[in-house]
Amino acid sequence: MAKRRLEGLRVLLTGASSGIGYCMTKQLLLGGAEVLATARRPDRLARLVQETLESPGKLTVIEGDLTSAAHRQRLAGWCREHWQALDVLVNNAGAGAIGPFEQANNDRLRRVMEIDFFAPAELTRLCIALLKQGNRPAILNIGSVLAHRAVPNKSEYCAAKFALRGWAESLRVELAPCGIEVLMVSPSTTRSEFFDSLVDSHPDAKSRSIGSMTPERVAQLAIRALVRSKREMILSLGGKALVSMGRWFPGITDRILAKAADASDKATKP
Ligand SMILES: NC(=O)c1ccc[n+]([C@@H]2O[C@H](COP(=O)([O-])OP(=O)(O)OC[C@H]3O[C@@H](n4cnc5c(N)ncnc54)[C@H](OP(=O)(O)O)[C@@H]3O)[C@@H](O)[C@H]2O)c1
Repeated sequence: MAKRRLEGLRVLLTGASSGIGYCMTKQLLLGGAEVLATARRPDRLARLVQETLESPGKLTVIEGDLTSAAHRQRLAGWCREHWQALDVLVNNAGAGAIGPFEQANNDRLRRVMEIDFFAPAELTRLCIALLKQGNRPAILNIGSVLAHRAVPNKSEYCAAKFALRGWAESLRVELAPCGIEVLMVSPSTTRSEFFDSLVDSHPDAKSRSIGSMTPERVAQLAIRALVRSKREMILSLGGKALVSMGRWFPGITDRILAKAADASDKATKP
């Protein structure tokens, strides 16, 4: 299949104020795309505008909370009014949570599901009619290695990312007859602000991982997946190893993960 061209591509991208989404927006604009970018922090969106003034692409930003139905309607409405279509929807915004499920307050599961699953699913529903009018349309979901293999103390996040992946797999087949591609890129630990904005988590909550990637690199690989229409991509070697191990040796993987969780628990206790 021919590569997708970034020049003139009309993209709606969520979570553009930091990390992977910030870098993806910059790289898409460098490639000549037109991007409607959204997130809650206006100062960060203003900085993004300032830093991309010289880019060949065109950037519009709309601030707002993606868990609000009215904000999602506003985004789709903007695309309808200005583009009458949409070529690519990037569902990137997300947040994590760390800590034992039993000790979490009642709200945590719902808040994580709202931003990591319901918001992208409902935004997508609003955008399908617009994507049907787009050029070689695609929905690119930013998943996680934890959408393929769950780990302890991140049960809410794993649940939300597994839900996103299952939903995307179903949608991929549903939307194939109208020519809309559904792609998923799954990063592992990325050095973004993700661990500074955990939902209802202990301030000392830590995430253990072998290695990490820069958000610039993750953005580059995600755009490559979009350009080449890769349906599913796990980005790191460590992530691929965890997923394969979990598939072929689930019991051993459980025991290793339990040991790692225990060690991390001891390390954070005085
Ligand atoms: N970092 C990792 O280790 C890692 C690993 C695997 C997958 N991922 C996934 O990668 C994606 C991007 O995360 P990141 O690493 O770039 O983290 P990040 O730097 O924290 O970025 C998250 C983005 O989502 C936005 N966001 C969060 N809640 C929102 C809400 N309620 N409404 C609107 N926007 C919201 C944030 O903007 P505002 O706060 O300004 O709203 C921010 O722009 C997420 O889906 C995450 O699950 C991350």
